[in-house]
Amino acid sequence: MDLDQLAPDVDRIRQDFDDIAAFVDDSQPGWSRQVLSDPYLASRAWVRRAMEDAGLAVHQDEAGNTIGRLAGRGGGGALATGSHTDTVAGGGRFDGIIGVLGALEMVRRLRETGTVLDHDLLVVDFLGEEPNDFGVSCVGSRSITGSVTPAFFDQTDAAGLRLGTALERHGYSPHAMLSGAWQKGSVDAFVELHIEQGPVLERSGTQLGVVTAIAGIERVVATFLGRADHAGTASMTDRRDALTAAAEAILTVEQIGCTGESSVATTGSLEVEPGAMNVVPSLARMWTELRSPSAEWLGSARRQVLDQIAALARRRDIEVDLQWLNDQDPVPTATSVQDVVASAASALGHSWQAMPSGAGHDAAHMATLAPTGMIFVPSRDGRSHCPEEWTDFDDVGIGVHALTATLLELDGARAGAGR
Ligand code: HGY
Ligand code: MN
Ligand code: MN
Repeated sequence: MDLDQLAPDVDRIRQDFDDIAAFVDDSQPGWSRQVLSDPYLASRAWVRRAMEDAGLAVHQDEAGNTIGRLAGRGGGGALATGSHTDTVAGGGRFDGIIGVLGALEMVRRLRETGTVLDHDLLVVDFLGEEPNDFGVSCVGSRSITGSVTPAFFDQTDAAGLRLGTALERHGYSPHAMLSGAWQKGSVDAFVELHIEQGPVLERSGTQLGVVTAIAGIERVVATFLGRADHAGTASMTDRRDALTAAAEAILTVEQIGCTGESSVATTGSLEVEPGAMNVVPSLARMWTELRSPSAEWLGSARRQVLDQIAALARRRDIEVDLQWLNDQDPVPTATSVQDVVASAASALGHSWQAMPSGAGHDAAHMATLAPTGMIFVPSRDGRSHCPEEWTDFDDVGIGVHALTATLLELDGARAGAGR
């Protein structure tokens, strides 16, 4: 099959993006579709129908992932692709979504050209990739790879609701998730198409990214306990101000984030009690994450955060509690799959460059199940996790075409081996 004949219909992809963008939380900026929200649950029904309309046999696995299967000539493990359709609050229209809708267009083109693979092909809409109100992420892909525990589902949100209870209320089964791991060998390779979410490809004028590694992430919730006092009568030396302690901790974390190559540190959320301008804050809670492609740097940064926050709290006579959430080690992608992505990009005449991912992905978990790779397309101005997130649809089409060529080459790998 000539690769040009498998080129995607970009207008059809654009229409799918417009259709799924209707499922958003209008009370939030951007295109918010957070996991377990009504818009998210409604969008999953739409994705299921879109998968069926594209000719896939669809089911929801034990882990709550929506999976479409395109039968191949059969035998052996499947090839898998996919991503997520949930967003951050105030998110955009491409993060994750391109990996699901792009795969659907690929399937349509395979069927329209009568192209039958040796492998079965799985398209996965993973449940809840984004960090949720319970402080954890990648619910569906962690379950697939057997890395969820009862403690994972005991994480609570600010109101004290358990993740497990919230999932059950929406028809998902934590019990099933705990035994929802896919069998080793069930997948021969996994490839995720995703937007870069950074400026590298746009700045270098490169069309495709061949992802070499996915950054590791350490997430921590630090709770500072001081004492509420009258803002007018408590002298500056008598105070035990929880918020100024948190403020010093936020800047300390920022400094630590500046110490490594490709390392970053972010405090994205802050809670303050009682929250009145004429009361010295008694409680401050910061939600912070550290990221790096280096496991060594992450380990050192975690120790520095522990030591330096404990020291500033002592100096300020403030109690502090650090709760480390789900951590994610840096994950290299499979060089065998990297080579196929690069070969596919070149075969299509597209420029490409090898690069790490600063963002986390379901692929980081799928890499424990099968040789895994990722394909990036450029993000305008490097922006993501915001309403301004944008990728030109011609670039989306190039990514879908590269995904198609990559999976065809991976499919042929077995044919070559088997015949
Ligand atoms: O946070 C991340 O890196 C991903 O977008 N969930
Ligand atoms: Mn994201
Ligand atoms: Mn994503």
